[in-house]
Amino acid sequence: MNIAIMCSGGDAAGMNPAIKSFVENCLKKDIVPYLIYDGFEGLIDGNIKKAFYGDVTGIMHLGGTIIRTSRSKRFYDPKFRKIAYNHLKDADIDKIIILAGDGSIKGLDIFAQEYNISFVGIPTTIDNDIYGTDYCLGVDTSLNVIKNALDDIRDTSASSKRAFVVEIMGRECGYLALITALTSGAEICIIPEIEANLESIENRLKEELENGRQYILAVVAEGSNQTCNIKNWLEETLNVETRTLVLGHIQRGGNPTVFDRLMGTEFVSFSIERLLSTEHVNSVITYKNSQFEFIDINTVTSNVYTIDSRLLKQVENLTK
Ligand code: F6P
Repeated sequence: MNIAIMCSGGDAAGMNPAIKSFVENCLKKDIVPYLIYDGFEGLIDGNIKKAFYGDVTGIMHLGGTIIRTSRSKRFYDPKFRKIAYNHLKDADIDKIIILAGDGSIKGLDIFAQEYNISFVGIPTTIDNDIYGTDYCLGVDTSLNVIKNALDDIRDTSASSKRAFVVEIMGRECGYLALITALTSGAEICIIPEIEANLESIENRLKEELENGRQYILAVVAEGSNQTCNIKNWLEETLNVETRTLVLGHIQRGGNPTVFDRLMGTEFVSFSIERLLSTEHVNSVITYKNSQFEFIDINTVTSNVYTIDSRLLKQVENLTK
């Protein structure tokens, strides 16, 4: 039996541990593992290679993905999907594990229905915005990278009595910014999920500044599009010298944390079992309330992820 693994969309730490675990797991079970390089682009171009132990030695600690990824436009076109299928047929592959966000997993589902391919999607994105799972692969490393950056920013911020507005990734979702604000001791958190009350923030911080506050840290989610506004507002309203930092793609890098390594390994091993035990699989593996489950891709894509209300409540004080 042949099974392939691929990545699609934004890279995330934890992909390499998952790829390593996939290859080693397959070889132990006498399954032939294949690596699809460069995401759907590589699938279209036939960049598919049989994998051996040597391909995955020394990669556990590496961020990113050794098989690379892409955001493919060509895969939307049935003509290119047909080409992709022919490459899979040549290698006798009808089972795929994909490390990706829900958009890419849905793209694979369309292809899988056209050509009778079985697949499991492993939710992988630093944004943590996929319905049905509490956790997506890569989130923990990203949060730790951000934590380190904010700890450093606080050093300089406190040394010169400045405010810093730090923009955090997450596309439309404020999860990374919310957790960051709560765990880095930020004074302000601006996320799309909660409407901020600037007047109330102003009163709170004026009082704190009068009582000796030396610096201000504002965490702003990219999805709120408020980074410049908050900077200007801080300078005009509180009269504090303010700098802006867009943390950017550094949030996607870094040595995978223990949690992401472990989750990469577990997600993969349950996914292989699923592909072996069920005839036609079109599932996403999720991690909900500390349990692994499989849900249909349509359930994932027809629902919208929302941040746990308990976490939203926790951060409320930083939004007003
Ligand atoms: O989905 C992951 C993510 O890093 C988002 O947080 C961000 O908005 C986007 O990807 C950036 O995409 P790109 O790497 O294509 O610039």
